[in-house]
Amino acid sequence: MVRLPRRFLEARERVAEAPGDVMADAAEAVAYRGTAGKMWRWVLRPFADRVLARVPFGGRVLDLGTGPGLMPIHWARQRPDIEVVGVDLSPAMLELARIEAERAGVARRVRFIQADASSTGLPSGSFDVVASHYMLHHFTRPAEVLGEMQRLAGPDGAVLARDLVRPRPILARLSLAFTRVCLRNSREQNQQYADSLAASHTAGELRGACRVAGLEELVVRGGPIHVTVERRFARAAARRTFTHERAGRVLAGATLLASVALAHLVSPWFLLAAAGTALNLVLSGITDRCAVKNLLLRLGLPGERDLGRAEAISRISKAGPSGSARPAAPRDETARRLAARLGVTVN
Ligand SMILES: C[S@@+](CC[C@H](N)C(=O)[O-])C[C@H]1O[C@@H](n2cnc3c(N)ncnc32)[C@H](O)[C@@H]1O
Repeated sequence: MVRLPRRFLEARERVAEAPGDVMADAAEAVAYRGTAGKMWRWVLRPFADRVLARVPFGGRVLDLGTGPGLMPIHWARQRPDIEVVGVDLSPAMLELARIEAERAGVARRVRFIQADASSTGLPSGSFDVVASHYMLHHFTRPAEVLGEMQRLAGPDGAVLARDLVRPRPILARLSLAFTRVCLRNSREQNQQYADSLAASHTAGELRGACRVAGLEELVVRGGPIHVTVERRFARAAARRTFTHERAGRVLAGATLLASVALAHLVSPWFLLAAAGTALNLVLSGITDRCAVKNLLLRLGLPGERDLGRAEAISRISKAGPSGSARPAAPRDETARRLAARLGVTVN
């Protein structure tokens, strides 16, 4: 049985993971690689693409707490024009990441560095975009790592971090049942997930931490599953193109208002339309896929990530470098091969 800490179950208190638990063990790293592979399409890749859309042509992007390096490898494959660096504290994770990069044929274009994410020792302002995914919960004082991200991005760079949000205990149990049954997580994988849920922060806690640390430029947004912390490029924020993301938000807001008004004036059945719109909004936030977005895309509205990619591709073709930006997802069966290379067993 997967255990959730008592203080979390009784009072939804945050319970930090065991000190020094940074997936230093090869078996743990391989187990996480398996989970990340299952989540790639619906969870990790949409975030990776969101980060990539913010990287300017020829820019530099950093992934803090990169784990098995799936995001840096994806970035390098998608954008031959950019420089990619991944940082992690765990040697086992870095070993996995290097093997994956080699297999993907991008080993020369991605650098993996062992360092503590809260004090990397890398020069200030050396990246255009600094990202981190599913790492903040490892920190009791998350502002330390957010401050480091801001320092590395310099005054003009973008910062984008996303992590799990600490759920209510009942939701944690439901979520664990879902990952056990639908994702077929092993007991070890689900225990990792349970520990992460209990150690994660709420949006309110992260907001408070940023305020106390004077990180006023960072905007914290909480959702049902994830919390994001973001500072946009001054330049990117100024580029106000009407993307399908913006159109979708306006449309959803208008539909919600209209259906609530119609429910009040005409028939309560209109509340179903409001509920449908709200559900669509939540689902599009979780999966980054939704019917309205697809329709808007078909109507020709560009997405934020397409803008970044299109800009890069057009500049590449003007500059005429060799190599192509062929999209490819990391392969899940690699976990088993990596395990064999590291001499551990995977479930
Ligand atoms: C849950 S994994 C997430 C990996 C990856 N970002 C992803 O989304 O798949 C968290 C990673 O953060 C790393 N980590 C934890 N504490 C760290 C620290 N102080 N400095 C650098 N990395 C750390 C762990 O080793 C682990 O690889």
